Amino acid sequence: MQEEIISIKNEAIAQITAASEISELENIRIAYLGRNGKLTTLIKRIKEVPQNQRVQFGSTLNDAKKTVESLISSQKNSLQNSVREWFDPTIPGIKPKIGHIHLITATIDKISEVFGRIGFERMRYPEVEWDFFAFEALNMPVAHPARDEWETFFVDVPENAKYGKIVLTPHTSNGQVREMLRVKDPPIRMVNIAKCYRRQSDISHSQMFHQFEGLVVDKNISVVNLKGTLDYFAQSFFGKDRKTRLRPYHFQFTEPSFEIDISCGVCKGKGCKVCKAGWLELGGAGMVHPNVLKAGGIDPKKYSGFAFGWGVERVLMMRSGLNVPDLRVLYSPDLRFLTQF
Ligand code: PHE
Repeated sequence: MQEEIISIKNEAIAQITAASEISELENIRIAYLGRNGKLTTLIKRIKEVPQNQRVQFGSTLNDAKKTVESLISSQKNSLQNSVREWFDPTIPGIKPKIGHIHLITATIDKISEVFGRIGFERMRYPEVEWDFFAFEALNMPVAHPARDEWETFFVDVPENAKYGKIVLTPHTSNGQVREMLRVKDPPIRMVNIAKCYRRQSDISHSQMFHQFEGLVVDKNISVVNLKGTLDYFAQSFFGKDRKTRLRPYHFQFTEPSFEIDISCGVCKGKGCKVCKAGWLELGGAGMVHPNVLKAGGIDPKKYSGFAFGWGVERVLMMRSGLNVPDLRVLYSPDLRFLTQF
């Protein structure tokens, strides 16, 4: 008898779990638990069960009825709640917005790639830096007036006996001596691209901007190598027909020093509204000062070098012809601007 109860129960369970309509479940309930249901009527056969097994029989039967009852109700619930999924292939898809590399990052990648092709190693030196690397090692002792040109942020922490104060580096030239100390034995060919900070903020200046610093140190490096490298960069980055020009200038850490101009892309050097005299100013460069080589542990009698440091934002604007009314838009998360590129 016990087995019979179990097998009827299992039969009911199989039907319930296979049911896909609520009405089906109702029929199953009647078939098993209704007045004449298979489980209900089993009680009548209690007479056939030996006296001492009747309690056991009653409880097995009750358990079976409860199990079937609760399974029917939970199955009903889940049929009621199930949302019918269907797929309509004619509905237009949801197209996620795809972003792209930021203009400045793309420019940095391009600069690294152009210099990488002629063997310059991409470096990135500290943006929070010792005064020593940002100034002192660059032939600008403490209180030297040339420092005024770099409107520097100082970090309010105690000075270090050897390296001095901590600054937010106002130019990537801090990487020069750091690279010399890292490499020790020339040749050195690096391009340090990093953020710089200066106390200036208006439509054409931002307190944070980017520079890329080139440094080459080897035997017999002369201005010819500098000029050749600059022309290579100008032509690879701006276009085949561009030329560079060196104008005498002064930096404490280069001797001689130059300002570099590039021929205007619009008038090709003849002079137009964009450039006025045919040339656009790129940035500073020069032959590494012997004192800087010495600070980097390199013998200026054996080696010489050149360096240049230009603004990433500047070359980006010059390359793209982008004429933003306010430079700071480059750093804003304004999608109306960013999605145009
Ligand atoms: N560091 C200089 C600046 O910020 C640029 C420069 C770099 C000049 C290397 C000469 C050599 O203006």
